[in-house]
Amino acid sequence: MDWGMENRMARIIKPDTGRTVMLALDHGYFLGPTHRIEEPRKTIEPLLPYADTIMLTRGVLRTSVDPKSITNVVLRVSGGVSIIGPSLSDEGLTTSLKDAIRLNVAGIGISVFVGTDHERQTLLNLAELVNLGEDYGIPVLGITAVGKELEKRDARFLSLCCRICAELGTHIVKTYYCEDFEKVTNGCPAPIVIAGGPKLETEVDVLEMTYNAIEQGAVGVDMGRNIWQNDHPVAMIRAIRSVVHEGFKPKQAHELFKSIKAEQPKKVASV
Ligand code: 5RP
Repeated sequence: MDWGMENRMARIIKPDTGRTVMLALDHGYFLGPTHRIEEPRKTIEPLLPYADTIMLTRGVLRTSVDPKSITNVVLRVSGGVSIIGPSLSDEGLTTSLKDAIRLNVAGIGISVFVGTDHERQTLLNLAELVNLGEDYGIPVLGITAVGKELEKRDARFLSLCCRICAELGTHIVKTYYCEDFEKVTNGCPAPIVIAGGPKLETEVDVLEMTYNAIEQGAVGVDMGRNIWQNDHPVAMIRAIRSVVHEGFKPKQAHELFKSIKAEQPKKVASV
C-alpha cells in the first residue's frame, strides 16, 4: 500500500486498536432534515471529540463543521436521489475527487444497490471511484444500502453485496448487522463496519449489536441515528467507543452510558 493510502486508512481505522467509530451524518443527502439532525452543527459539535471519523456530504461539512477542528472526514460522494423520488437506487457520483482532495478527506463513500434495477450502474460507479481513489491514495467506503428493502437484511444477501464490493477493490465495506454475521465478515476480505439502522428500542440493544458485530469480525461502526437520536448522544457515542476500542461488554458499556448521562444535561439538537 502506498504511503498516502496507508496514512489515510490509519486516519479511519485506528492503528492502536485496529478499530473505528465512524459517526454517520449523511442522512440528509436523500432524507432532507432528518429528526435530530435538522441543524447539523448543533448535532455534530458535541460529538466531534468522540468520533474517529465523521461521514457526511461536502455541503454539511463546509457549512456545519469548523475547519479548525481536528477530525477525519469520509466524504459521501454519491447521491442524486430523494426519498420521494421514483427510485432511491438511481444514484450517481455527486462530488469530484478534486473537491474531495481540497477538503483534505481521509476517505470517500458511495452506495451500491445490489439486486435493484441500478445494480450495474452503482457497481460501476464504485469501480470508477476505486480507480480514482487508487490514483490519489484515497480509500473508498462501499456502502451496501438496503433502504426500503430491509427484508433483504440477511447474511446471504449481505455477504453477496459485501463480497462484490471487496472484489471491486473497496477499501472498507459498510453493511448492516444480521443473524449469522460471521458469514458476511468471513466472505469479505475487506474490513467491515456496520451501520446502526433505525433507532433501536433501548441503549442495551445498540450496545449488544455493536458488541456482537465486533465479536463476529467487524472493525467498527459507521453509526448515525442510534447515536444522535438518543436523548444523550455524547453518553451514547462514548459507550459505543468503550465497546469498539476498549473491549467493554454491553452491560459494562451501559453502566458507562448511565454514569455519563447522570453527569450531563439532556442534549436535544432540536425538537
Ligand atoms: C445511508 C447511510 C447512513 O450513513 C447509514 O445508514 C448509517 O446511519 P444509521 O446508523 O443511522 O443507519 O449510509 O445509506
